[in-house]
Amino acid sequence: MKFFIDTANLAQIKEANELGILDGVTTNPSLMAKEGIKGHDAVMAHYKAICEMVDGDISAEVISTDFNGIVEEGKKLAAIHPNIVVKVPMIKDGVKAIKWFTDNGIRTNCTLVFSAGQAILAAKAGATYLSPFIGRIDDSNWDGVELIAQISQIYSIQGFKTQILAASIRNALHIVKCAEAGADVCTCPLDSILGLLKHPLTDIGLAKFLEDAKKTA
Ligand code: E4P
Repeated sequence: MKFFIDTANLAQIKEANELGILDGVTTNPSLMAKEGIKGHDAVMAHYKAICEMVDGDISAEVISTDFNGIVEEGKKLAAIHPNIVVKVPMIKDGVKAIKWFTDNGIRTNCTLVFSAGQAILAAKAGATYLSPFIGRIDDSNWDGVELIAQISQIYSIQGFKTQILAASIRNALHIVKCAEAGADVCTCPLDSILGLLKHPLTDIGLAKFLEDAKKTA
């Protein structure tokens, strides 16, 4: 399973990248706004900066919602760097645009996915990645991880090549459960990635080893 970080914060991207386990970055308009990135040129420059930091796929989201707008915006985003993956919402014109991008050699990440039916449509259109929003499903009292397992089974039976990118991750357990359910990628906030490190027995065991090491010094 690949690990992406889900942020537009350069310091957090740097920290995750330095761990040596980072395969890419996902962003969205909310994450860009959170960093105070304002204006078209600043947004494009920020994507470029991320691409220069991380050697992996970088999702950049379109904000147009009509076919022509999505295609024009996507072409400009894809021109920033070869690692850019154009993030397109799961709407009717979005599906049409994903098919256009597929036919024209531009990779896509279909976002705002909440059902297996949407996952089938995106795969038929040739999406490179599919982003089901695990945490938001859980928030609405459904089971996000169950959706990952269902899509994984469908894609495997049908031979779809679209990679399942589990998004809207809220904690370390989500990452483990998504890995178990067949996600190809998990995009996570830095806290959730670092949460994987934690176990009290590791801390207790290390303290004891360090204590005993003093006896051998
Ligand atoms: C990433 O691709 C998604 O946009 C992101 O994971 C959404 O996460 P949220 O539900 O925490 O906003």
